[in-house]
Amino acid sequence: MIPLFDIRLSEREVAAVEEALRSGWLTMGPRTETFERAFADHLGARHAIAVSSGTAALHLACLAAGVGPGDEAIVPAITFVATAAAVRYCGARPVLADIVGQRDLGIDPDHVEGLITPRTRAVVAVHYGGYAADVETLAALCERHGLALIEDAAHSPSATPASGGRKLGTRGTAGAFSFFSNKVLGCGEGGLVATDDDDVARFVRSRRSHAMTSGTWDRHRGHASGYDVAGLGFNYRLDELRAALLHARLPALEDDIGARRRIVRRYRELLAGVPGVTVPYRDEDVEHSSCYVMPVMVDDPELRDPLRELLQERGVQTSVLYPAIHELSAYRGCARTRLPRSELAARTELTLPLYPHLSQSDQDVVVESLRESLASLRAAGRPAAPRDATLT
Ligand SMILES: Cc1ncc(COP(=O)(O)O)c(C=O)c1O
Repeated sequence: MIPLFDIRLSEREVAAVEEALRSGWLTMGPRTETFERAFADHLGARHAIAVSSGTAALHLACLAAGVGPGDEAIVPAITFVATAAAVRYCGARPVLADIVGQRDLGIDPDHVEGLITPRTRAVVAVHYGGYAADVETLAALCERHGLALIEDAAHSPSATPASGGRKLGTRGTAGAFSFFSNKVLGCGEGGLVATDDDDVARFVRSRRSHAMTSGTWDRHRGHASGYDVAGLGFNYRLDELRAALLHARLPALEDDIGARRRIVRRYRELLAGVPGVTVPYRDEDVEHSSCYVMPVMVDDPELRDPLRELLQERGVQTSVLYPAIHELSAYRGCARTRLPRSELAARTELTLPLYPHLSQSDQDVVVESLRESLASLRAAGRPAAPRDATLT
C-alpha cells in the first residue's frame, strides 16, 4: 500500500521528546514557550500562542475577533468541518461561500462580498492544500466592511501568497495553524494562533488555560502564589512532549517543504499526460505553497468514486479533500445560495499520496495506476464529459 501520508521522525526528534519526558515537567511550560518564540520568528509574527489543536486555535481566533451569538462568519464550503464548527462554538452561524473553481479551491472573494450582511463579523479564509487564498483582496474587503479576517492556515505553515510577501497566517486578525499528525509540521495533536495584535494575543493566551491569571508553570517558578479567573476559558493547553517535538522538527520544515515541492512538480509533469484529470493551481503557485496535499480533479464526476476503488485495489490510498460542508448532515442550511463550484469540487477532487520521502518509483506507481484505472473506466462506457462542461 502506498499511503496517503507517512511520518518519519529523526533520532534527534525522538530524543527531544525523551528529554521532555525525563524533565519532570509534562504540561505547558518552558518547551512550549521556546517553540512559540521559534515559530513566531519563523513566521515573522509578533505573537505565536500554542494550543491543543487547530480547531482550538480557530475557536479562540473567532472569539478574539468578537464572533458571538447572533453573528455570522463567512467560511468556504470546501474545507475541513473544523473551520465551520469553530464559528458554531461561538454561538454564531457559518455562512458558506463558494470556491473560485476547479483550478483554485480557495474561497471566492466576490462571492464573499455578496454574502455580507449587518450580522457578519468575520471572514475565515482557508489556504487549501497550502496554496494561498486571495488574502490581499479579502483583507481589503474586510477592511472596507469592518470585518475581521481569520486565516485558517492549518495546511500552510511557511507558505506565502504567489505574489510573495508575508507568510500565510500573518495577514489577518489572526492565523490558526494545525499540528495534527498528517500536517506539514505535525506532532500528533496541536495548534497555534499567530497574530500581530497585542489584544488578540492576550485574549488567546488567557482563554487557552481557563482565563486564569497565572499558570501552573508560573506558580511552580514562584512567580505567583494564587490565581483569579478573568473570563470563560478552556483547557486548550499544549503539553511539553508535543512542544518539544514541534521545536525539534521546525528546523527541517523548509527542507521538508522543498521535498514536497519537488514531488508536486514531478506529479504535475507526469499528470499532464493523463487524459481525464485536471491538476489545480499553476506551476508557479507550487513554489509558494507548503504542498500539504496533492489534489487532482477527475473531469467526469461519475468516475471519481469508482476510480478511488480501483486505486485502492491497486494499493494506492487516496482521499477526498473535502466533502462540501453544506452537504454534511449537521451543516445543511448553512448555504444561503447555491454553491455549484464547491459541489462540483466535492465530486471531482481526489487526493494522491504525498509526503517528503515519497519515492519516485512509488510516485510512478501512483500515476500509472491512475492512468490505467481511469482509462479502463472510460473504456467501460463512461466517457468523460468534455472539460468545458464540467470545469469552471
Ligand atoms: C483546513 C483545516 N482547518 C482546521 C483543521 C483542524 O485542525 P486540528 O485537527 O488540529 O484540530 C484542519 C485539520 O485537519 C484542517 O484541515
